[in-house]
Amino acid sequence: MRVLLTITFGKSASPLYARALQLAQSLSGYQETGKGKELVHTVTVTVSLAHEATWEKLDQLLRLVSAWRSASVHIAGQPVRGWALLARLAQVKACHARKLRHSAGAGYCCGKEAPDTEATSFGCRFCKGVSREVYSSDDRGDSWIHFGSLSPQRNAFRVDKAAILRTLEQETAADACLFCPAFRWQRVRAAVDDLPDSIELNGDSAFEVCYSAINPKKALGIQPKEARDQDGLVFAFEAGERPADLPQRQVPSVRYADIAGQDTALEQIRNIVELPLRHAAYFEALGVQPQRGVLLYGPAGSGKTLLAKAVATESNAHFELLSGPEILSRWVGQSEENLRRVFERARQRAPSVVLIDELDSLAPRRERQSQQHEVQLLAQLLVLLDGLETRGQVAVIATTNRVEAIDPAVLRPGRLDYHIEMPYPDREGRAAILRVCLAKMKARGGLPGEALIEATEGFSGAELAALCREAGLYAIRRALAERIPARKLVVSVTDLCQALAALRAKRVSGEPACPKLP
Ligand SMILES: Nc1ncnc2c1ncn2[C@@H]1O[C@H](COP(=O)(O)OP(=O)(O)OP(=O)(O)O)[C@@H](O)[C@H]1O
Ligand SMILES: [Mg+2]
Repeated sequence: MRVLLTITFGKSASPLYARALQLAQSLSGYQETGKGKELVHTVTVTVSLAHEATWEKLDQLLRLVSAWRSASVHIAGQPVRGWALLARLAQVKACHARKLRHSAGAGYCCGKEAPDTEATSFGCRFCKGVSREVYSSDDRGDSWIHFGSLSPQRNAFRVDKAAILRTLEQETAADACLFCPAFRWQRVRAAVDDLPDSIELNGDSAFEVCYSAINPKKALGIQPKEARDQDGLVFAFEAGERPADLPQRQVPSVRYADIAGQDTALEQIRNIVELPLRHAAYFEALGVQPQRGVLLYGPAGSGKTLLAKAVATESNAHFELLSGPEILSRWVGQSEENLRRVFERARQRAPSVVLIDELDSLAPRRERQSQQHEVQLLAQLLVLLDGLETRGQVAVIATTNRVEAIDPAVLRPGRLDYHIEMPYPDREGRAAILRVCLAKMKARGGLPGEALIEATEGFSGAELAALCREAGLYAIRRALAERIPARKLVVSVTDLCQALAALRAKRVSGEPACPKLP
């Protein structure tokens, strides 16, 4: 393959200028434009790496002028950075030399990184604009399964081969692999053509529809099914490392569907925590630093711990729980070491969520710290939070219902500086929480009614959950007394009414024992 290469440079005070000029003038496509300070030297050549003598000179010229401000390099009209081109050329040259050394045939150029591995690219291992793998790692570009469209019934995926090829052409347009004497677009096209035209998404399919992290109803395309994902991980093991050697990850089982009445907080935490954990490649590609730490604050029982667990589950993140009071009482003496270990475990098992529950007891304001070990523990926590930048995919979520009791140093920018409020649920919120809790039990239709929603004003999510649990107990007692068979038992309005009365009696004395329910 022969490709158009243009190297341009102006007059320079560098002692290497004379040598660069001499090299440029010795090449056939040399020309000079402008005069004095405006003088520009241009070398335009159509070359392949097979033209060794020419490449020798071009290589030297590139090395001399790459760092000059006046220099520019273009491949087929597209600007490239000189040093990047030189580094890439070295790889391409070595690859081609290997091919010649082993007298390898066309099968050598099939997109494999090594002879005994699966092909990861189309037609050439350096043609990386689109990955041939379905479990594409971050540096290999988009996977081919990201190109195409779903049928209206979402039961088939039509692969858009034209778009794959277009992207490969665009991404490779200025790549050094074009100079390789063995590079052939025909081979890239043939490899793309070998892909299936369409993928059925029935029960046996290895793929499933992939939905947006922000809007779960929005289908984005397809992805390998979960089980295949795990197979894919096997390829990532270092030589000699067995799956059993990998640290065990613990992912909780709370889902977003288990949380109700906290829509604003849920949306915020999905954007701030779930997105970077699930789509780290996009953040890296754009150079966007994800938020390092999040503080969930609000009254007791509003679902803070529940939400932190749910975001870990839904991001398939390993979960580490640091409970403030527990650390202080159990770890006295070696608390800092334990704290470090938790963060280290999270880093090894990333993506991870570290939940610091009840942060106020772990990091109280300095004036309230009475013991030396409290001071040391807080200092260690600050160090760990500051080290998060280099940590990989570890999100830290802290919860509290006493923001004012927390040491301000922990909440400073760069630490736990994104604060999400989780207030008591409003009317709509209460209805939603009761629906979620009752849906887990067998309850009579029509529940929760309007009267129950009104009657629970001021209740927290935890109290509403306790109300439903209590109603379940009343229902069981009733069934045992009235000899109702288990399969016919449902939670009724009366059960809820009794549970509410009991709960209120516990909560605030003097309130009406039982509201009138329909
Ligand atoms: N918004 C909610 N939706 C559904 N269930 C909820 C909600 N809030 C609380 N609950 C129920 O209450 C229980 C306790 O909630 P959680 O421990 O998350 O509250 P918290 O805000 O962390 O409280 P605390 O400040 O006391 O730690 C949950 O396990 C769940 O059953
Ligand atoms: Mg909690």
